[in-house]
This record gives sequence, structure tokens and C-alpha cells, in this order.
Amino acid sequence: VENVGILAMELYFPSQYVDQIELEKFDEVSTGKYTIGLGQSKMGFCSDREDINSICLTALHRLIEKNNINLHDIGRLEVGTETIIDKSKSVKTFLMTLFAKEGATDIEGIDSTNACYGGTAALFNAVNWVESSSWDGRKAIVVAGDIAVYGKGPARPTGGAGAVAMLIGPDAPLVLDRGVRASYMTHAYDFYKPDLASEFPYVDGKLSIQCYLNALDNCYNLFCKKMRKTDPSFKGLLSLDGMLFHSPYCKLVQKSLARLCFNDFLNAAPEEREAQFPGLSQFSERCLQDTYFDREVEKAFMTYSQELFEEKTKPGLHIARNVGNMYTPSLYGGLVSYLISKSPDQLIGKKFALFSYGSGLASTMYSINICSDMSAGSKLEKLINSLHDTVSLLDKREAVEPVKFSDIMDIRTMNYHTAPYEPSGSIDILFPGTYYLVKIDELRRRTYDRK
Ligand code: ACO
Repeated sequence: VENVGILAMELYFPSQYVDQIELEKFDEVSTGKYTIGLGQSKMGFCSDREDINSICLTALHRLIEKNNINLHDIGRLEVGTETIIDKSKSVKTFLMTLFAKEGATDIEGIDSTNACYGGTAALFNAVNWVESSSWDGRKAIVVAGDIAVYGKGPARPTGGAGAVAMLIGPDAPLVLDRGVRASYMTHAYDFYKPDLASEFPYVDGKLSIQCYLNALDNCYNLFCKKMRKTDPSFKGLLSLDGMLFHSPYCKLVQKSLARLCFNDFLNAAPEEREAQFPGLSQFSERCLQDTYFDREVEKAFMTYSQELFEEKTKPGLHIARNVGNMYTPSLYGGLVSYLISKSPDQLIGKKFALFSYGSGLASTMYSINICSDMSAGSKLEKLINSLHDTVSLLDKREAVEPVKFSDIMDIRTMNYHTAPYEPSGSIDILFPGTYYLVKIDELRRRTYDRK
């Protein structure tokens, strides 16, 4: 099978958000800390009306409806999430309610978990299946979703929530390149959720940034090496039309792009360095390990990479800036943002790389090629049009005052383990077609309805 990749995509984000300018005032931090310092504008959040099952159902159902998917034509359903509400029962089994209704129950795949990486693991599983001897000719669906919430404190403004659903199969407009995925996986306690009684993670903010950048350095260098095996003229960032990142907050993404330039700088032959990186030779003696928080290096390479950032990365940050860190769907919100920033004509034949990072830690850099085949071209057009529809919902969301946001967070926290339970969150506020939690009974079984 050829050109295996993403055939269609759908994104879900909550219908309510808190404005980061308002949140700065409410949290009594200095003006600009969240908006300029972190680069965030709005943060989507869910009340107790929504949970991981409901948001994944919403994204999946929209994908099926908008693309008229015949459920008997799906042979694999994969889920990526780190929002765990049951230590045994997978989110996938809840999603099966949609399929089982139609008598479609012969469907492989189950949940994958490791922080923000689960969505990428699920995507790779689906693509690998289509490319394997187990494949039976049907398509796969990948759903990645999370509700990202932090306790009160400096990490809270980096929350978010959302879900993405992707249809995977051959002859796709967005094709995953083969043989060049570059991973870096190791053990770290940068962000983890050891307290099963709480929805909140333990997070060492500074360590998590260092781990993210270190993983990025490793993946990028290995990715370039693998790319050069098939294309000796591959020049890293300069050979890519787009560079997308998992986005905990937008400022870290801009720093990450600068970091790639610093890698290119260190890798450049000394005699070529001055021509390619004028005025930066003073940094020739610096090394990767000592510069995660080196202000001078950061500033110099942020300045150097400003135009590259505007061109290759910033178009991918629209959703991240306006919804926040959705965890597993974050990178795929980046993909959606990038795609809708251009017309199909501008995208045909383009190549871009994606960096997926999940604390703990698991990370991969891989690349997508936008197919230049004409039949894929019309699929691309359809995909982009439907995404424009979805993203236009950003402007139809309701702004919620920080004090009310904080109260809604307290309700979630207080009732994280309450059963039986009837949620109090508004159904009116939800977008049409949104699934919501009706109740949790005394045996902690959850039931859902669709608006
Ligand atoms: N105007 C402009 N910028 C400001 C202002 C202001 N008034 N005040 C602060 N800033 C800047 C700071 O200089 C800093 O910028 P820098 O990073 O370039 O130095 C930035 O705003 C953030 O300020 P800090 O004081 O560093 O923020 P703090 O330490 O309180 O929290 C952090 C930031 C660590 C990211 C926290 O939000 C967090 O822990 N988030 C969750 C973890 C995370 O997302 N990690 C990333 C990878 S792991 C993952 O994906 C979950």
C-alpha cells in the first residue's frame, strides 16, 4: 500500500474559555506574564459536564458525520490519552458504542498512554497496521483527547482541553514519510500523575522544559541523519516548509524553533558558520547540554530565527494560543492550524516535520509530505474546508470570568471521586453535537447524551 497517512481530520475544543489577560489580573501576577511571557491568549476548559469519554465521542462522531464514514469500513480504532478515569476500562470501549449500534464490532486497537505522547503512539499504531500483513483493507481511526488541568499556581494558565479524530488509510493527502521517524525515550520525573485520587499532575516546570529541549535536540539530530540517508542534500530546517511542535505554551515553541537553529549552527562546518550565521561566532564554544537556560544563546537565536518562525512555525500555533495545551491533541491542533493557514494550492508537495513530546518521557520527530497526486488534492481541499468550519467555532465560544472558571475547577476537584453524581455544569453552553455526562451511578458507571 502506498501513501498511507491522514485522510480526514476533526478537532473538538470546549465552548468556554478564560481570557489570559483576565487570568493575569485574577492571579495577581505581573501584566504580560501569561500573554507575552507564555505567549497564550485564551484557555479552553470543561465543566463537570464533560470528561475524557465525552470529548472523544464528540470528536469521533463529528469525523464520522462530516465524512460520511461507513463504520463497517473501519478495522482499527486507536485512542491516545493521559486523562485516566478508569484503571482498567479503556476510552476506546466507550467509543465502541457508536460502532456497536451499527453492528460493527470487529475493530482492533486500544488506548495508549504516556503524557502528551499517546496520540502520536496511536497514530503510529494505525499507520503501521495499514502498512502491515495484518491489514485487511479497511481504514483506521485515531482519537486523541485530554482535559489538561493544573492545581492553583504557576502551571494553571498552561492548561487546556480538546480532542482530535483522524481517519487513516492509503492514498492520503497527508502522507507519513517512512523510515525517518526519530525517537528519544528515557526516564524522567518532569511531569507525572502518581496521585490517582487527583486530576492534577505533579510537575517540575523547569525540569520539564529542560527535558523537552533535550528531547528536541536528540530527535532533530537523529531525524536529519535519517533524512540524509534517503536525501543527501537534506538541510534540516531549511529543507522543510513547516516545523510543528507539541505546544505546552506558545513561547516554548518559539524557543524550540530557535533551538533547532542553534543545533544547525553547532553542526555547521566552522568555515561555513560565519556565512550562514553572521555575528553569532561568539557562541561557537557553547554546547547543547549547558544552554537549556542560557539567556544569551536563547536571545541570539530567537532573533536569528524570527523570520523562519513566522514562516514555518507560527501558522501552526493558532489553536494552541487560543485553546491552550490540549496534551495529546496539541501537536495535531498544530497540524490543523498550519493547514488552514494556507490554500490547498500552497500546500501541494510541501513537506513538514512534527515534534511530539510526552513527559516521563517519550518523544519523536517525524515528517508528513503533502501529496501532489491530483486525487489526493481534492481530498486535501475537502479536509481543509471542513477544518475551516471547525476552527470558526473558536469565535463562537463564551468567555467565562476567572472567578467563575476557578469555581468550576473547584467543583471538578471536589467531585473527582464522588458517586453517585449528577454534574451541575451547563448543557446550554455546549456546542450542538457535543456529548456530555448525564450521571455517574452508585456503581460508578457513566452515562452520556448528545446535545
Ligand atoms: N511580561 C512578560 N513576560 C513575563 C512577565 C511579564 N510581566 N512576567 C514573567 N514573564 C516571562 C518570564 O520571563 C518567563 O519567560 P522566559 O521563560 O523566557 O524566562 C515566562 O514569562 C514565564 O515566567 P516564569 O516565572 O518562568 O513562570 P513560572 O516559573 O511561574 O511558570 C512554567 C512557567 C514553568 C512553564 C509553568 O507554567 C509550568 O510548570 N507549566 C506546566 C509544565 C509545562 O508546560 N512544561 C512544558 C513541557 S512539558 C508538558 O508539555 C506538560
